[in-house]
Amino acid sequence: MSVTVRIDGERVTGADGQTIAGVLIAAGRRSWRSADGAERGVFCGIGVCQDCVVTVNGVPGVRACQRTACDGDEITREVR
Ligand code: FES
Repeated sequence: MSVTVRIDGERVTGADGQTIAGVLIAAGRRSWRSADGAERGVFCGIGVCQDCVVTVNGVPGVRACQRTACDGDEITREVR
């Protein structure tokens, strides 16, 4: 089973049960947030650093490394 999400309008497909970060990394992305002009993605991978945060379905501050991707999720980058 697969899930398809959109990040900044681009469709990305991953495996059912993957985190959002897992889906994005498997699709070849290494960053999806900007902080002080630097690109950020996964750093700790355990929900501590908040480097991976994205907005999911309009909810900001979601840790991509902790949130399981759901079919149809709309993900947008955050700039902090
Ligand atoms: S990578 Fe550190 S909180 Fe997600």
